[in-house]
Amino acid sequence: MLVLTLLHVLAAILWVGGMAFAHLCLRPAAEAVLPPPLRLPLMAGALTRFFVIAAISAAVLVVTGHAMIVWLGGMAAVTWPVHIMLLLGWVMAGLLAYLLLVPRRRLVVAVAAADWPQAAAALKQVRLVVTINLALGLVTSGLGASARWVP
Ligand code: HEM
Repeated sequence: MLVLTLLHVLAAILWVGGMAFAHLCLRPAAEAVLPPPLRLPLMAGALTRFFVIAAISAAVLVVTGHAMIVWLGGMAAVTWPVHIMLLLGWVMAGLLAYLLLVPRRRLVVAVAAADWPQAAAALKQVRLVVTINLALGLVTSGLGASARWVP
């Protein structure tokens, strides 16, 4: 259980922390100083690298999360925050898959074609989904941390 919890928490830190950095620090800083032909390739490159980390983290979270539920005695034995965490974890993983397959791909294609208006539109979509996933990730982490302290 210790190893599962460690992997679970480290994956949550990498995924949620990475989204917070990209959304709250990198994006506004790049917007403030770089014109679109420099900013959009930078964001496409940074997001492509980050999404590899996010996809691995999501897989680790889902696998270790389900393994912990089995270890703790099944769904009937775990507290209500775990039930909501399970649901939100899968929603987050689904949104990440959408992000990787649709807007990130659009962004990379538009950047390769130097189509800056299309690239900016794709990045706007990425931003919307990352905002939702960041909020869900913070709520889910709060649920995870409270799981063993509620009746
Ligand atoms: C399918 C998805 C998931 C499942 C099945 C799952 C399941 C679990 C379980 C069973 C625990 C242990 C609860 C306890 O000690 O009573 C836990 C803890 C935790 N989970 Fe999840 N989880 C999932 C997704 C996530 C996600 C997406 C995040 C954050 C982004 C997250 C963050 C945490 C945190 C921070 C803890 C607290 C660890 C501790 O302090 O012991 N989980 N999770």
